[in-house]
Order: sequence, then C-alpha cells, then structure tokens
Amino acid sequence: MKVTWLGHAAFLLEGKDRILVDPFLSGNPMASMKAEDVECDIVCVTHAHGDHYGDAVAIAKGNDAPIVAIYEVATMAQALGPDIVGMNIGGSTKVGDTRITMTNAIHSSCFVGDGKIEAGGNPAGFVIDSGSRVYHSGDTGVFGDMRLIGELYEPELALLPIGDFYTMGIREATKAVELLSTPTVIPMHYNTFEAIQQDPREFKNSVSMKTSSEAVILKPGESYSLG
Ligand code: NI
Ligand code: MN
Repeated sequence: MKVTWLGHAAFLLEGKDRILVDPFLSGNPMASMKAEDVECDIVCVTHAHGDHYGDAVAIAKGNDAPIVAIYEVATMAQALGPDIVGMNIGGSTKVGDTRITMTNAIHSSCFVGDGKIEAGGNPAGFVIDSGSRVYHSGDTGVFGDMRLIGELYEPELALLPIGDFYTMGIREATKAVELLSTPTVIPMHYNTFEAIQQDPREFKNSVSMKTSSEAVILKPGESYSLG
C-alpha cells in the first residue's frame, strides 16, 4: 500500500482501493494537493470539524466515491448529494475491496456555520484494511483501549496526531504507539496552525527510546510504502 500524507490529517491510502481520509485541502496552508486533483474510490471522514470534513463532499461527488463516516456526519453530507455509508463506532463494513472498522476517539465533533453549531455525532477513528492495515486515529487524546484496537485489528501502521492542544501531544502519542504496538507510526495534525507547532523529530526520538516501534516523518506530499 502507498500511503501519502496530503497535510494535516489528510492521507491517501492506495491499496486494493484508493481511500482518502479527512480531506481538508482548501484553506489548508500545508496541503500538498488541490481538492480537484484528488482521485479516489472512498472518502473516510473521522468527524465533523472543518479541518477533517473539509472538501469531502466535493471530492466524493467528483469521484463518484461514497463518504464513510459516523451516521450523523454521513447524513449531513447526504443532503448535498454524495453516496454515503453512515456507520457507527465498533462496527465494520466492506466498501469495494476494503474493510473499514470505526473506532472510538476522545474528542468533540460538530458542524460550525454562520455562528451556529450543529451536532456532528461522536468523533471516530478508522482501521482500514485494503491489502495492508492502517489505523487513522482521527483527533483524539490517548485512551487505554488503544491496546484493544491493536489486539483486535493488528494494524501495521498508525497515523497519530502529535500537535497537542486539540489532540495528543508527543508524550501521549508515544504512549499510544506503545498501547497499539504497531511497528510503524506516522505523525500528523501538527504545524498546520500556530496552536499545534511541534517538532516531529522529538516524537521520533521519543518513540525509539520508549517503544519498539519506529516513527516515519513525512513532509506533505511525501509517500511511505507499506508492506
Ligand atoms: Ni477536531
Ligand atoms: Mn482537527
């Protein structure tokens, strides 16, 4: 599987299918790609916040790709036209040749528009098996049941936020890697905004000192070959 970081929490996973996760590209100062240039088969959205939901609807419609998200987020998107898969935490489903499991995340989730806040269901993460198994945690704090995610789904790669403030920082993300026992982790959700400045090399050192896993640092636009 080819894993490309598009900046912030956006990744393109090219395995049996091409899965786009959390496509916040328009308005993202770190985006490595324009929304209209993305080609994918499935769009996964972890929660309703704009830096994750982003361009999901436009890209899904442009690619004839379904949006996979928690029921509330999927239902909001459906009104705008794309096909949806509105699932919930703990469940798995097959989309194309890809098995997608929705996992817990400790965070908040809502749509914001015109100064109004609308419910966005619970925030979530995904384990995506499209030839290789990848865990995208979404925005979350560290939680002990990450050990369960590791045991049940045995992800080969974890994509974890390290930006702190809105999510885990380096100390917590290192503990998450230990709980998940994934051989490899790629940090995300840092340096996009002033509030989440972080040195990924500090995370890499922390992971190599405290766990038996390895952190791979990507620049937006760079890819990692998994499996
Ligand atoms: Ni968020
Ligand atoms: Mn976020």
